Amino acid sequence: MKALCILGSTGSIGVSTLDVVRRFPERFKVRSLTGNRNAAKLAEQVREFKPARVAVADEAAAAEFKAALGGWKGEILAGPKAVVELAEEPESNYVVSAIVGAAGLLPTLAALQKGKQVGIANKEPLVMCGPLMRKAADESGATILPIDSEHCAVFQSARAGEPKELKKIVLTASGGPFRTTPAEKLRTATKADALKHPTWNMGAKITIDSATLMNKALEIIEAHFLFDLPYEQIEVWVHPQSIVHALVEFSDGSVVGQLGLPDMRLPIQYALTWPERLDGGLPPLTIERMRELTFEEPDHERFPSLNFAYEAGRKGGTAPAVLNAANEEAVRLFLEDRIPFVRIFELVGEALRAHDVQPLDGLETVLAADRWARERVRRQVE
Ligand SMILES: NC(=O)c1ccc[n+]([C@@H]2O[C@H](COP(=O)([O-])OP(=O)(O)OC[C@H]3O[C@@H](n4cnc5c(N)ncnc54)[C@H](OP(=O)(O)O)[C@@H]3O)[C@@H](O)[C@H]2O)c1
Repeated sequence: MKALCILGSTGSIGVSTLDVVRRFPERFKVRSLTGNRNAAKLAEQVREFKPARVAVADEAAAAEFKAALGGWKGEILAGPKAVVELAEEPESNYVVSAIVGAAGLLPTLAALQKGKQVGIANKEPLVMCGPLMRKAADESGATILPIDSEHCAVFQSARAGEPKELKKIVLTASGGPFRTTPAEKLRTATKADALKHPTWNMGAKITIDSATLMNKALEIIEAHFLFDLPYEQIEVWVHPQSIVHALVEFSDGSVVGQLGLPDMRLPIQYALTWPERLDGGLPPLTIERMRELTFEEPDHERFPSLNFAYEAGRKGGTAPAVLNAANEEAVRLFLEDRIPFVRIFELVGEALRAHDVQPLDGLETVLAADRWARERVRRQVE
């Protein structure tokens, strides 16, 4: 029986994770859940899954959570430290990392330091400091299981050969809602347009990242750290149907891929039940969805994000943390209607160019780079 701690249970990945858990009551027990502001959703989850403890990251929202959970006998903790406490307590042996953004770094790192199995959807901490997270896992014996669909696909496909036989990987990208939008129209793209993802139903931040292709940019760096691959061996192909999630090319020219409907429950289930495969009753891939699979090159002119990823990745050190933080801040400003869509590219590119890269010698250096980039973006806009 796996005892789960689900970080970010109230979000899109958290809700899908609980749907997988619901399908295997004999395999999983929910030990703890964490949320930030969505008290009603957390209360509903607590009533159904009966965890022993919950944590609310936003202290100001704690009273609302307590009211929503009125009568519940379990423990309600509040604040970012409480989230870390639940991630590292020994009563859970599997942590699902599904908080959005850099806020997931400390609890995910804590779970890795405690030697747990950690299913990671929250890619931003890996981008910020992949080597520190890998080191923590190596020292404690923790296992990292990728939940991001493309990385889960690489993880599965790579098993068809030896690591030394792997020539390159291809991460696919849907292309987002603006795949065919001309450059001049991107200038007037609205938040509502950017939030209309053609194939995936996800949280707001990752949906905007998909519209800018920054999500794929972050995934390039995530793949570099997860699979220990040089950037030259990581490619992106646009595949609007989101059926082929990734391809792995081996030295003999064979290409092995993983296919499936664009439904995050499939990679989540694989990460939870690994190394087994179980029938969770998820909808199958049918021939109708396979009739027209297309692939195209990404447009680096309209969407410079992938270039930023290769640039930050090759610079190394604190550059990926700056890329991530500048983007998080720019996306927040876009979602608050304070900047136009294309300004996200400018703010991220400018932060990356202005940053004096430091070696990744510890968490404090990463957090300082993160703060620097956020402040810079805020100053530029104010
Ligand atoms: N959605 C997908 O299909 C998908 C696919 C691949 C990878 N991912 C990655 O998975 C992560 C989660 O994405 P999502 O789409 O599920 O996001 P989401 O729907 O926005 O959910 C985010 C979760 O994080 C919590 N949260 C927000 N700010 C927090 C903070 N400061 N401290 C602690 N918790 C906080 C939210 O709590 P409240 O809701 O209570 O405020 C919620 O539970 C992201 O890193 C994303 O890139 C997502």
